[in-house]
Formats: sequence, structure tokens, C-alpha cells
Amino acid sequence: MTRINKIERIFDRVLKNVKPGDGEIKTINSTVNEMMSRLKKVAGNNVEIMLTGSVARGTNVRGNYDIDIFLLFKNNISEEEMEKKGIEIAKKTIAKHKNETYTMKYAEHPYLMLNMNDRGITIDLVPSFKIKDASERISAVDRTQLHNQFINSNFNEKLRDDVRLLKTFLAANGIYGAEARIEGFSGYLCELLVFHFGSFAKLLNAMGSLKLPAVIDIKNNSRIQGMQADFVKKFAKEFIVIDPVDENRNVAANVSSESLSLLMLKARKFLAGPSIDAFYGPKFSDVNSKAQIKKLGDELGLDVYALVFKIPDIAEDIIWQQIKKTRGRIEDILRQGNFAPELSFQNISDRLGIISFFINPVRCNSKKAAGPHIAMADSVDAFMKKHKKPFTFIENDRIYSMQRQAHALPEDLLMAIAGKKIIEFPSYIKKEKIYFYKNRIPEQYAKMLNQAVRTRLLWQ
Ligand code: UTP
Ligand code: MN
Repeated sequence: MTRINKIERIFDRVLKNVKPGDGEIKTINSTVNEMMSRLKKVAGNNVEIMLTGSVARGTNVRGNYDIDIFLLFKNNISEEEMEKKGIEIAKKTIAKHKNETYTMKYAEHPYLMLNMNDRGITIDLVPSFKIKDASERISAVDRTQLHNQFINSNFNEKLRDDVRLLKTFLAANGIYGAEARIEGFSGYLCELLVFHFGSFAKLLNAMGSLKLPAVIDIKNNSRIQGMQADFVKKFAKEFIVIDPVDENRNVAANVSSESLSLLMLKARKFLAGPSIDAFYGPKFSDVNSKAQIKKLGDELGLDVYALVFKIPDIAEDIIWQQIKKTRGRIEDILRQGNFAPELSFQNISDRLGIISFFINPVRCNSKKAAGPHIAMADSVDAFMKKHKKPFTFIENDRIYSMQRQAHALPEDLLMAIAGKKIIEFPSYIKKEKIYFYKNRIPEQYAKMLNQAVRTRLLWQ
């Protein structure tokens, strides 16, 4: 069997698993029809109801019962008014007697997620303005309605299936989705990439040997050479996919360089040795995570530190980014204290957050503090006055002083941080107690950490 045939056979087998079956399609379609008519009844003639997202484009993966419906308002009202009215309409469509509930979601704009608990289906009801061109756009979600047209007028069934393959491939590697904790490829980006390269197989080929910076201009069907610098500056990114409906939008804006690098690596690996395993993530057990983490720390000869704290019920993206920022600040402080972490992780689950560092067992009793150049008379005097004890000296042409450290061990420093003596935590963590652990991390928290560790680990 040729290599190409082997690859095609793998694709066919995966598709059999990830293409929605007849039953699923029927269920989704009838739910869509039911919701559309409920919405039209409540909304009246001034609001257009539009099915969007992967269901509208036939790029949904089996088992993803997530329907996206937009409520499109004329732009003769304010943004707040539009959102308020949209949410009101959405709430009126909920059938409590059918065991339906809802959750308010706050992305850049509020929307309502309707849960059809008995059917296992969720429907995102998103208020937005009706537009014909991206230049009329008021809110970020206004573009979505234009995406539908572009994809549906350019796609055939083969491309739809190839998008399903790409989504599955990315999900297996933990990089499907544009949310902050994933920093991967959104559904729409998958659609654009498959369209641009012409097939999933060609996309893998191109990604395997991608040279950065790369600018993909979907609308003009070109990879821009020569002028990348302008785009890199404009979008502050090395991997740019220009939205065909809005030239000012980089659809790949949320793709981190780690996610992109992982796709490049996995594409190469798959092409070198095609295997269906590439579409199914690694299996690992999170049972006894406490011992697993302890073992990893021992194997590496690193101490594992963890800070655990409560988080409020707000948008995940916001919390995730704030924890990331806090983690970076703590890392800086550790580095200044000579305890540079070799590895650093974060995770959230329900109402808990965790920040963790793997650090070499070091002690830092004293550190050399650099003073001014010897020629700067006043500064040298001031430095010497300030640092009389215990050991001030000259090295080359500068003055130095040995400084006894207030925190000789990483745990001293981290405990001081946990006690909020060193940095201001973001307001949402402030009131709660921050727990500190070293090496022996309670199972519940170790699970959160283990999950973050496994997501970063490259499997073969
Ligand atoms: P979804 O996140 O539901 O994506 O956003 P999707 O394309 O339907 O993919 P899956 O199959 O559910 O995972 C719905 C639509 O909102 C717009 C896109 O047009 C998308 O198709 N959107 C969403 C964006 O433009 N950018 C985003 O980051 C998210
Ligand atoms: Mn969707």
C-alpha cells in the first residue's frame, strides 16, 4: 500500500468516528428548527434570527451538541440596548417545563447559553448587530454572520470533512479552541486553513515545514512574501491569517507559539509515520495524582511548590489570564531571589485555582548587590553608607555589597507571597486564604496540577 493510500485510509477511519451520524443530524436539525421558530415568535419582525457556527457550516464534529444562534438587530439602537433586548428575547424562549435552564456567559459581549438538559444539547443565543460588511461592525461578534457566507459559498462536503479531521487532530493534542487556557485554533480558523491549503493532507504538509513569519491572506488566496514585516508589526504576531471578511482581523490572534509549534511537530510526525493514534489523545490516569507528581519531582530532582486559592464565578478567560499574569510576577520574584523555576504551571477547576513551580533545591543565604561605578563619587559614598555590613567590596571598577537574604529558601519566599506580604494579588483572590504546599500536594489539587503537567508533556 502506498503512503498516500495509507493516509487516506486513516482519514476514512477517523471520519467514520467523527462525522455526525444520521440520528445526530436529525436531532440537531429538529432542535434548530424548534429554536428558530420559538425565537421568531418572541422576537417579532425587527430581529433576524441566524444559525451560525459549525452546525450552520456542516463542520461540526460528532458528539458536539453545541448550537450557535445569533439574534441580529438593526443598528438604530445602542449596543447596551441591543444586548439587553437580545438577552430578554433569549430568556423568553426557555421552556422550563422541558427541563431547560440557562447560564449567562460573558465573552467580549454577554450571551445566553440555553441548556436542554433532557436532550444534552446547549444553544448559545448571541445578540449582535446585523451588518453587511465588516466596516459596519460595532461589536466583535458582529463578524460571525459574515463568516457563514464565506464558508458556505466556498465549501464542499470534502472540505467539511477535512475540517472535522483537523478539529479532531488538534483536539487530540489539546490545541483546539481559541480560549485562554488552550490558546489554540478556533473552529473558524480551522475552516479557513483547510480552505486555503485545499485539504487536510495538504495543510499537514504545509504546517510540517512552515517558515515564520507566515502571513496567509485568505481572500486573495496568497501567502504573502516579502511584506511580512508590515503585517507582523500590525498584528504583533508571527502567524497571521487574515479574515476574508475583515482585513483588520487576524483570525489566528489567539494561537500561541507553543500551540503552533506543536501542530508543526505533530504534522511532521504524522507524515513520517501515519497512525490513527495521532487523532486520539494519550490516555493517562489521574488516579493518585499526588504520588504521580511526587514521583515526577523526585525523578527530576526538583521540589514541587503549589499555591492554591479560591476563584469567583466569572468568565474563565479573564480568570485564566489574571492567574497567568500573577504567575509571571511570582516567577520574576523567585528569579530575583535566585530560585528561578525550571517549570511553571497553572490550572483552574470549579472555584479553585492553582499555581505551581518546580524548583531546584537551592538555598540562597546571601546575594551580591551591585553598586555604582567607582567614578560616581556621590553614589559610591551613599552606597557605602547604606551598606556598611557585613561585607562591601570592589570588583573591577564597581562597588558591591553582600546582602543577607530575608528569604533563604523558595518556601520562605513563596510563603511570604502567599501571606500577601510581597505582591498584590488580583482583587478576586485577595479576600481568600492562599494555601501553600511543598512536594506533598493534597490529591484534589495534585489532580489539577497533574492535568496541567500532562497537557504540556509531549507524548510519542
Ligand atoms: P464556536 O466557538 O461555537 O465555534 O463559535 P464553531 O465554529 O461553532 O466550532 P465548534 O464546532 O462549535 O467547536 C461560533 C462562531 O463564532 C465565531 C465564528 O464565526 C464561529 O464559527 N467565533 C467564535 C469567532 O469568530 N472567533 C472566536 O474566537 C470564536
Ligand atoms: Mn459552535
